[in-house]
Amino acid sequence: MMRLLVLGGTVFLSRTVSDLAVARGYDVSCACRGESGPLPAGVRHIRVDRDDPDGFAGLAGERFDAVVDVARRPSQVRRALTALAERTGHWTFVSTCSVYADDATPGQRVDTAPVLPEAAPNADETDPESYGPLKVACEQAVRTVRGGDAFVVRAGLIGGPHDVTDRFSYWPLRLARGGEVLAPGSPADVMQVIDVRDLAAWLLDSAAAGRTGTYDGVGEAIPFGRLLERVAAGIGVRPRLTWVDQDFLTDQGVQPWMGDRSLPLWLPRPRYAGHSSRNGGPAYRAGLRRRDIAETARDTLAWERAVSREHPVNAGLTEAEETELLAAWHATRSKPGA
Ligand SMILES: NC(=O)c1ccc[n+]([C@@H]2O[C@H](COP(=O)([O-])OP(=O)(O)OC[C@H]3O[C@@H](n4cnc5c(N)ncnc54)[C@H](OP(=O)(O)O)[C@@H]3O)[C@@H](O)[C@H]2O)c1
Repeated sequence: MMRLLVLGGTVFLSRTVSDLAVARGYDVSCACRGESGPLPAGVRHIRVDRDDPDGFAGLAGERFDAVVDVARRPSQVRRALTALAERTGHWTFVSTCSVYADDATPGQRVDTAPVLPEAAPNADETDPESYGPLKVACEQAVRTVRGGDAFVVRAGLIGGPHDVTDRFSYWPLRLARGGEVLAPGSPADVMQVIDVRDLAAWLLDSAAAGRTGTYDGVGEAIPFGRLLERVAAGIGVRPRLTWVDQDFLTDQGVQPWMGDRSLPLWLPRPRYAGHSSRNGGPAYRAGLRRRDIAETARDTLAWERAVSREHPVNAGLTEAEETELLAAWHATRSKPGA
């Protein structure tokens, strides 16, 4: 039986990894503070604060077949490596496609895409603007200690149950509400979403197989129009979409990607034409499966309804904002010469 240590376990990806590992019959320990949510059933909780220099004391002398780490702070990653690297068989570090320096060129590959410089040792680890460079520094820390046997997965946008960022969830929730739906940019704009359960399963398969190297853990690159079609199919609706020009949205102060007054997943072109169109071929050939986004949408909506908004809505337009924007858009279209 695999002895797995998950550094995390209470939010989204690390929680799903833990859930799936328990379902596979693994012996699963989750090291975290236990502040961000409940631990999955069937895991052993080891109380660890990774900001405490002595935080891993509770794991002294323990050996694991595999570790999965999802941290964003290089100091936390280094502390875990110091405490555990010599007593662990396989080491997975979950990174992000935000490490890449070029968001404009579509179809880039993990082995040739340029990466941002790593954050300076004295960088503010809590600064969200430094997320990419901090993750580069985390990756480097793992490679320095584990050498060629590190497994580093740069995740693209992840969707599915337990996502509290609402970036993918906005769309099943919005399409389920019905009425005229504001769709941003062009239906041909390419997007990528990986289901959290597919990514988690591949991390576990890779640990079991002893896979090493660096991969992009991304979904299929598909046009946004197609993605919304699959979302609609998954939740059983026929949406009435109005595609609204990206320059109009920018002029109206709508944020791309995430956050308040945003249209999640949307990223203006050509500046971000390569952001969500990475070449997932190497990961797919190494066994990363991608379920139909229709299934991701169905299960995400079911989870959102089950938790009935116990978590705040973290992305998208409010109903009033969308109505106002659509009215303004239609007004520009009815002007003579528009
Ligand atoms: N979501 C996406 O679309 C996306 C896209 C690209 C990459 N990623 C990457 O995917 C990974 C997963 O992120 P996630 O958002 O799904 O979160 P997650 O891994 O499910 O949760 C983060 C975990 O870290 C633990 N933690 C935080 N501070 C801690 C501390 N001081 N000491 C001990 N444990 C601590 C939290 O537990 P407690 O707070 O309970 O201690 C929590 O269990 C990350 O590496 C992220 O960069 C995500």
